[in-house]
Amino acid sequence: MTDETREQESQGSRYRQIAEQIKQAIHSGSLAPDSRLPSVRTLATQYNVSMTTALKTLRTLEDERYAVARPKSGFFVAPQPLEMKLPAAASEQPREVAPLDEQTELHLAMLGSDCRVRLDLANGDISLYPVKKIGLLMRQMGYSKPALLGNTVKGTGYGPLKAEIARRAVEYGCNISADDILITNGCIEAISLALRATTRPGDIVAVESPCYFVLLQMLHNLNLRVIEVEAGPEGYVNVPKLTGLFQRKAVQAYLTINNINNPLGKSIPNEQKAYIARQADENDVVIIEDDIFGDTAFGERRPFPMRAFSPNAILCSGFSKTVAPGIRIGWVHSANYMRKLASLKYTTSMGTSVLSQAAIAELLRSGGYDAHLRKLRRELKNQIHHMRQAVLRYFPPGTRVSEPEGGYVLWVEMPPQALNVRALFLKARNAGIGIAPGHIFATDHRYDHCFRLNAGFGWNAEVEEAIRQLAQWCQLSLTAG
Ligand SMILES: Cc1ncc(COP(=O)(O)O)c(C=O)c1O
Repeated sequence: MTDETREQESQGSRYRQIAEQIKQAIHSGSLAPDSRLPSVRTLATQYNVSMTTALKTLRTLEDERYAVARPKSGFFVAPQPLEMKLPAAASEQPREVAPLDEQTELHLAMLGSDCRVRLDLANGDISLYPVKKIGLLMRQMGYSKPALLGNTVKGTGYGPLKAEIARRAVEYGCNISADDILITNGCIEAISLALRATTRPGDIVAVESPCYFVLLQMLHNLNLRVIEVEAGPEGYVNVPKLTGLFQRKAVQAYLTINNINNPLGKSIPNEQKAYIARQADENDVVIIEDDIFGDTAFGERRPFPMRAFSPNAILCSGFSKTVAPGIRIGWVHSANYMRKLASLKYTTSMGTSVLSQAAIAELLRSGGYDAHLRKLRRELKNQIHHMRQAVLRYFPPGTRVSEPEGGYVLWVEMPPQALNVRALFLKARNAGIGIAPGHIFATDHRYDHCFRLNAGFGWNAEVEEAIRQLAQWCQLSLTAG
């Protein structure tokens, strides 16, 4: 590497560090809304960087809405930066998650039964997955290595699978040891173990709102309380609000789906992740992240989890969204809690099917997984596109629909005067259409006009007709009202 390239690289990360410092000054109030930010020249002199790096720092702040550029005057702190204000204490009261109400139970019951148009799940049609290949691998391996089935299950998982997971993690910024990985029965078991290893009943956990309903119910079952932090206009969690909670020691843990969030479909940008991770570390908040959709991201690069920015983050993931929904192989990595996680796993489910682990390990080792992922992402992007267009076409004006960066689902917000989504859910259910109603994604009524749609089951005339029917019920309720 030449001196010049080295210089360029170090300047490349320098602008981020400087931008972070300025953001902190804005958060702490040292730089008030509307106040003038240092000029390009001053920044360059103060921080001993080039004018280009200084300008890039200011442009980054502008892109992230911390700053505005005024022609011929320079850069200023954004006026009334609403999303930056720390929330009033009253809105921060931790809440108990209510037990399953009748409709959540109906919804969950529907998940386990047949349904004519399957818009309620967050996974896809069998044709999307390499199930034949996995089936073949299981048959071959079960035959040639009967010990995979015949021996009792010991330890934290099948070594070659853990090694493959650790190898792949380097590609998304995580240098983790295979010894610090525990294989679980799906990602859900991984998250449950991580919560149990790090929290005590009564603790308060920050979650993103809307929050995947299984996580809310899990928190309820573990007697944990939640503070729900809503998404900002960018479609991901309001970062100043979240880190404000950390700074005020209002939460003990942060449970996050920061890559391809379920249900909003967005990933938190790297710089914000780095900031959140640092704030969590400084304030002793445990990060537990659910990265199950990370590999489905449509973009050129797979997004990094928060673990890439803090060795303390506990990373949970699995293969239910990429290899086979029925295979039930997940994993959890922690640099600090392995012993506790392993002992909890032992008394929860003892072990995880080794033959399934071996088949996935072979898929990852042979390179077949990457080729499969490229196809899966292409299909999902296409299906999401068609469904999103149909929602925009058929639903009444005022309806809003998310723009996912990966995964399977869309989040739809009907106009506020439209029918309650509980009523829509029942009508749809009677017609054989499954949707995930918005209210199960919160502890209160804030999403009673929203619902989540699954685009994973292909785009065809029946699915389009179901969307048109949902839209018609919504339209009728507006006309009648
Ligand atoms: C965000 C999220 N995490 C975890 C899961 C479940 O993972 P697993 O089936 O591996 O337990 C789901 C399933 O929809 C999900 O949406």
